Amino acid sequence: MPKVVVIDDSESSLQYMAHTLGAISGCEAITFPDSAAGLKWCLHHDVDLIVVDYIMPKPDGLEFIETFRRERPTAPAVPIIMVTSSELKDIRYMALQIGATDFLSKPLDPIEFMARTRNLLNLHRTEKALTDRAQWLADQVHDATLQLVEREREALLLMGRAAEHRDPAAGGHLARMARYAALIAEGMELPADTVDAIFAAAPLHDVGKIAIPDSILLKPGPLDADEFEQMKRHTSYGHEILSAGSSPLLTLAAEIALCHHEHYDGTGYPHRLMGDAIPLVGRIVALADVFDALTSARPYKESWSIAAAADYVAASKGTHFDPACVEALLKSLDLVHEIQQTHRLAFERTTVS
Ligand code: C2E
Ligand code: SIN
Ligand code: SIN
Ligand code: FE
Repeated sequence: MPKVVVIDDSESSLQYMAHTLGAISGCEAITFPDSAAGLKWCLHHDVDLIVVDYIMPKPDGLEFIETFRRERPTAPAVPIIMVTSSELKDIRYMALQIGATDFLSKPLDPIEFMARTRNLLNLHRTEKALTDRAQWLADQVHDATLQLVEREREALLLMGRAAEHRDPAAGGHLARMARYAALIAEGMELPADTVDAIFAAAPLHDVGKIAIPDSILLKPGPLDADEFEQMKRHTSYGHEILSAGSSPLLTLAAEIALCHHEHYDGTGYPHRLMGDAIPLVGRIVALADVFDALTSARPYKESWSIAAAADYVAASKGTHFDPACVEALLKSLDLVHEIQQTHRLAFERTTVS
């Protein structure tokens, strides 16, 4: 039911207007002889129309409108009718400037009063419906965008898992290394959205292994020189696959795939990049990847303890790894333990069931 607030210090006018409004079906009149009390009420309740007298003890009609518009800048604006004597033209201009919607002259004509009131209520209802619809559309677009982002991430994760699937011994590797990469990025104080993007893109670092034959990928012993040359190509294969995409996440993933085996001292592959010439994401993922490879069992090696892996990466600071990345990882070893614990348990649960 639309709420119409009527404020007038004259009880008889008030009664008269409330009575007239009662004739508009489905309209609730709320009356205030005290304008301060009326203002207070209007500031804390939803109102569809306000009818306010001009000449009243403070706040008068102008002060009322000014305060209401300032304190409750709603969209769409609540219509306000100010009631004045017809000869007060300057006051009407002023009222318009501060936000009155319409005027009525005293003495009130009941037909005019009803018509204006009904028109303004209809107008306000239409405006509200439009605003709600615009808001609804904006909400829909926002939800759809979130869903797209989520689905892209889901698809990326599945692509990473598809590659991982060929090498079941590496179970849980993607989940852990993505978290280590995020941990390092966070430790290096990268912005939250960058950390998030690295977390989402990192699981695709080895997607290129999809193009490596099982005889090499699953070989229980050490690779010979030729086999290792073939294995090294998983970086360029991954880059080739991922750079066909156009989204920022795929672009980031392609960069990671290409340079996650570069070494800080320039002895890595495929391009023997050195130091800061290696994209930062590559330096971060290189450390996350090796740290998890060391602390996991592989067809060709046993798993190491976290302490042993920590010693190894500390010793490789500046040779294999960016020193800043190593420091970021080593200062959060307690979280590394937690990540390993969580994902070991998660993996055991999924394999048992
Ligand atoms: P991966 O198993 O995921 O290992 C990733 C990286 O972790 C390796 O990159 C290496 O830098 C480090 N890493 C893993 N295990 C060890 C280890 O026991 N000691 C040391 N010091 N570092 C280790 P890398 O060497 O470029 O190898 C890339 C990929 O090639 C490996 O990915 C794995 O799939 C394969 N690979 C490497 N060496 C062998 C091997 O001797 N036998 C077999 N079957 N595969 C190997
Ligand atoms: C994975 O679970 O395989 C990838 C990383 C993640 O947990 O988002
Ligand atoms: C990147 O994340 O690839 C840009 C940062 C850098 O190259 O240092
Ligand atoms: Fe790799």
